[in-house]
Amino acid sequence: MNDIAAEVARRRTFAIIAHPDAGKTTLTEKLLLFGGAIQLAGAVKAKGDARRVHSDWMKVERERGISVATSVMTFDYSDCTFNLLDTPGHQDFSEDTYRTLTAVDSAVMVLDAARGIQEQTRKLFEVCRLRDVPIVTFINKMDREGRESFDLLDEIEQSLALDVTPASWPIGMGRRFQGCYDLFSDRLVLMDKADKNVISEGEVCSGLDDSKLDALLGNSADTLREEIEMAQGLCPPFDAQAYREGHMTPVYFGSAINNFGVRELLAGLARLAPPPGPRPSLTRPVQPLESKVSGFIFKIQANMDPKHRDRMAFMRICSGHFRKGMKLKHVRSGKQINMHNPVLFLAQDRGTAEDAYAGDIIGLPNHGNLHIGDALTEGEALTFTGIPSFAPELLQRVAPDDPMKAKHLGRALQQLAEEGAASVFKPRLGANWYVGVVGALQFDVLADRIAAEYELPVHFEASSLYTARWVQSDDEALLKRFADKERAVVADDHEGGLVLLARNAWHLDDLARDWPDLRFAATKDQTGDQAA
Ligand code: G4P
Repeated sequence: MNDIAAEVARRRTFAIIAHPDAGKTTLTEKLLLFGGAIQLAGAVKAKGDARRVHSDWMKVERERGISVATSVMTFDYSDCTFNLLDTPGHQDFSEDTYRTLTAVDSAVMVLDAARGIQEQTRKLFEVCRLRDVPIVTFINKMDREGRESFDLLDEIEQSLALDVTPASWPIGMGRRFQGCYDLFSDRLVLMDKADKNVISEGEVCSGLDDSKLDALLGNSADTLREEIEMAQGLCPPFDAQAYREGHMTPVYFGSAINNFGVRELLAGLARLAPPPGPRPSLTRPVQPLESKVSGFIFKIQANMDPKHRDRMAFMRICSGHFRKGMKLKHVRSGKQINMHNPVLFLAQDRGTAEDAYAGDIIGLPNHGNLHIGDALTEGEALTFTGIPSFAPELLQRVAPDDPMKAKHLGRALQQLAEEGAASVFKPRLGANWYVGVVGALQFDVLADRIAAEYELPVHFEASSLYTARWVQSDDEALLKRFADKERAVVADDHEGGLVLLARNAWHLDDLARDWPDLRFAATKDQTGDQAA
């Protein structure tokens, strides 16, 4: 195996999907703890100032106690390098989440044992399904009274139409929760209730008939045997191909807060989860073992450090051996970009990325020249596909509290639009700016960010606009005729794209009928591929 093949084979790039409160943050913290990336539990979600670490970069996240931005954490465990991409659980930030899921090879779905599949779990799962992302399930909070394990497995199977197979089996629940039997490695792991940070290696058993089980579990041993026998009778055996194709999910049980079941989950990911796979592009699939470097930008985050006006573009490497200092072609502009300070998101702190391979996520500090969907290559004009953009469903007018600051506002909005945080429209007539978002909470976040990062207090005002549509045609003269005739209702987006701001559904329908040769697109696709 050459270097690239060996490096790619040991990479696991995954995201955790969960409904808010299921325990994603807690699990993330414990995964990092096992990965040796953080020393003390509590670092990811500490209170007060200490909270501003790792995944919580932005002020608004701290104040609202929600995780808004996607962040990346890289750590090693058991011969594998894991790239964990955090995703916001709040529904208003799903755009970011969707894009993140284009950059992973698998996902962990965390469920609360008392709640099972919840609304946001289902939505996120649907995105994974569209992309055939393989999913490992972690049923969390087994230390609380929850629902019966069989009931939970049945719900996953029925409501997500996904085959389930237990990877571990819990012994009791709530106060009676003792631990789990790891079905993949025939190991009994009991929870140390006295010290939840100490996790024993567990007892290796020679199958369920081993008398060790009786010695260690007493009466519960037979219940465990019966339940496992029943579960194995009801569920199909683990099938690696079905899992990798996204049709089957192995299910682990545990309690993240008690550190329990987390190591088994990590070991499961190391063993089962797929290493980085090919990525689709307009011309051909790009294979991870190709010698030439390529990658795409799936996220831009501005002003991560309030002291520096830096902007970080997150790039997923798709092929080749990336080295610090190399030059890559920015396909959209045709320019060469020198990779002199790429950032690797080691969980402890940001470190310089010296080398990276397919599946790795590196940060490229820049001044706004990199956009979501952009490809960087060693020369080939690749366009990666499948990075979705979304129709802005809510439109509001935004204005600075101080009317003299309108120009500053324009600059801030331009940057936020390039980052992908919102769609921004400047009507051809009048001095207003409109902002389009997918979820209402995004307005609050934008107002907070503009105030904090640009020192520019702003307010949003309801508008009577119904929706925005990108007006498209290959006939430039036709576009110009439309823009002139409908001057009162057209705007430019941040890249100068022509946009119709429709007053209501009839308005849109009428114009579509009057201008049959124009396309009124709900999304301005960043990669030539329609939104999922
Ligand atoms: P999220 O990121 O998915 O939103 O969930 P998070 O980890 O913040 O967990 C949500 C709540 O559930 C937290 O309690 C957390 O302590 C608790 N929790 C997580 N894992 C377990 C578990 O295995 N067992 C039990 N019993 N609880 C768990 P909180 O009171 O909302 O927050 P905090 O004050 O503990 O931070």
